[in-house]
Amino acid sequence: EGRELRLTVNGEDRRLDVAPSTPLLYVLRNDLSLNGPKFGCGLGECGACMVLVDGRAARACVLPAAAVEGHQVTTLEGLADGDRLDPVQQAFIDEQGAQCGYCLNGMIMSVRALLNAKPAPSRDELVEALDHNLCRCGTHQEILAAACRAAG
Ligand code: FES
Repeated sequence: EGRELRLTVNGEDRRLDVAPSTPLLYVLRNDLSLNGPKFGCGLGECGACMVLVDGRAARACVLPAAAVEGHQVTTLEGLADGDRLDPVQQAFIDEQGAQCGYCLNGMIMSVRALLNAKPAPSRDELVEALDHNLCRCGTHQEILAAACRAAG
C-alpha cells in the first residue's frame, strides 16, 4: 500500500510506486535506470551519489525520495543539452580527470552546483566544493584542473 510518488527527474514527470522513505539513489538507479549517480558509501560521506536538487548538490543515498517531490532533480544524464555536453563534463574529458571514474559523477555534479551558484569561483572555492568528494585513485590534481577549466 502507499501513495504514488511523483518526481521530476531531468525535466520529466515520473510516477512511481515505491515507499516514500526509499533513498532517492535507489529510485534513480533501480526504478528509473539512471546509473550516473553511483553507490559508494551509502552514508552521505563520499559524494559518489551526488545529484542536483533545484540546481544544488545533494547526496541521493541519504535523501528519502519523498523529500524531493515538487523539486527538480537532475542527474548526470540530464546535464548535457542534446549532443552538447555540459561544459563541466567537457572539461573533465579535456583534462582526463579520471582514473577508475567511479567518483566522477559526484565531482562533476559538485562543480556544476558551485557554478550554478557562482559562475566564476576561485580555485579555493572549487577545492572547498570538492572537499567532501572522495577519490580513492588519488587523481585530485587532474580533477581540480578540470574543475578550474570548467570555471574558466
Ligand atoms: Fe552517497 Fe557515498 S554513496 S555519499
